[in-house]
This record gives sequence, structure tokens and C-alpha cells, in this order.
Amino acid sequence: MRKLLFIWAICLLVLSSFLFSAQAQEASQVGKLNDKMQETLNEQINAELYSAYLYLSMAAYFESKSLVGSAHWMRLQAEEETEHAMKFFDYVNDREGRVILKSIKAPSGNWESPLAVFQDAYAHEQKVTDLINQLVKLADQVEDAATHNFLQFFVEEQVEELVSSKLIVDQLSLIGDSKPGLLMIDRQLGQREE
Ligand SMILES: [Fe+2]
Ligand SMILES: [Fe+2]
Repeated sequence: MRKLLFIWAICLLVLSSFLFSAQAQEASQVGKLNDKMQETLNEQINAELYSAYLYLSMAAYFESKSLVGSAHWMRLQAEEETEHAMKFFDYVNDREGRVILKSIKAPSGNWESPLAVFQDAYAHEQKVTDLINQLVKLADQVEDAATHNFLQFFVEEQVEELVSSKLIVDQLSLIGDSKPGLLMIDRQLGQREE
């Protein structure tokens, strides 16, 4: 009888260690990014760095026109986009993924007017919003709840980005060719703090 109990205890031990290792394996699979998800997150790192490059180019345009407030606004915008890229960079690493950096295409360097610059900025943010929405869709398709949650910051961020760039487009459209109006908006943009 004692021998039977001993064999039974051994069997239980073997079975529980097998179940535990199967669970641990499953958990590590949950931690690791799906290949397609990783590839698309890497593309987003590139898109955010391109955004930073584009806004820096816009800052340079405004510097050349002595519109220092607008240049300041664009410079902060470029910094914010670099932070976005780094959030994606850190996230891919946290999820045991591999960050692969590709070349960043050159942005335009010249515009017809300050209004044209902000119209481009607004159009660009609309494109980025589409990219973020596609990322959310993919996270849902591959049942990646962690990435879905991570992306919510960007979903909200894009709403703010669209609101702020659209407001400036509207204000610049309102003033038309008025130079004092332009200087007033430039001064207002120079007050941006973050
Ligand atoms: Fe961004
Ligand atoms: Fe943005």
C-alpha cells in the first residue's frame, strides 16, 4: 500500500511539473510579438522619425522667414515626434522584438506660404492617424491585447495633433494676406511650452 502511494505521489509530481512548464511556455509566447506586428511597429518607428524630420524641415523654413514663433512651434513638434518614435522603440524591445531601423526619406524643404506649411502638417497628421488606426486593427486581428492597449496613447495623441494643426490652418486662412495678422499668430505659436 505504502509503495502504491509513493508511485502515485511521483506520478502527481511529474504531471504537475509538466503542466507548469507548458504554462510557462505559453506565457512566453504571449510576451513575444507576432512577426507581422513587429514589422508594422518597426514601420511606425520610421514614420515617427520621418514626422520629426518633416517638422524640423518646417522649422528651418520658418527660421528662414524670420517667423521665430512658428519655428519654435515646429521644433517642439519635431521633439515630440522623436519621443513617439522612442516609445515604439522601447515597446518593441519590451515585447522581446527586434528593432530594425531603415532610411528616413527626405522631407520637402520649401513651401509657398506659412498656410501651405500648416496645411501639409495637417495632411501629414491625417496620414499618421490612418497608420495608427491600421496598427490597432492589426493588434486586434492577431489578438494582441497588450499592443492594443499600448496604442491607445497614440489614438488620443492623434486627436490632439489634428485639432491643433487644424486650428492653425483655420487661423492662417482667416487672416489671408494680413502681415500684422501673421505676426500675431507667430507670436502666439512662440508661446508653446511643450
Ligand atoms: Fe507622432
Ligand atoms: Fe504627430
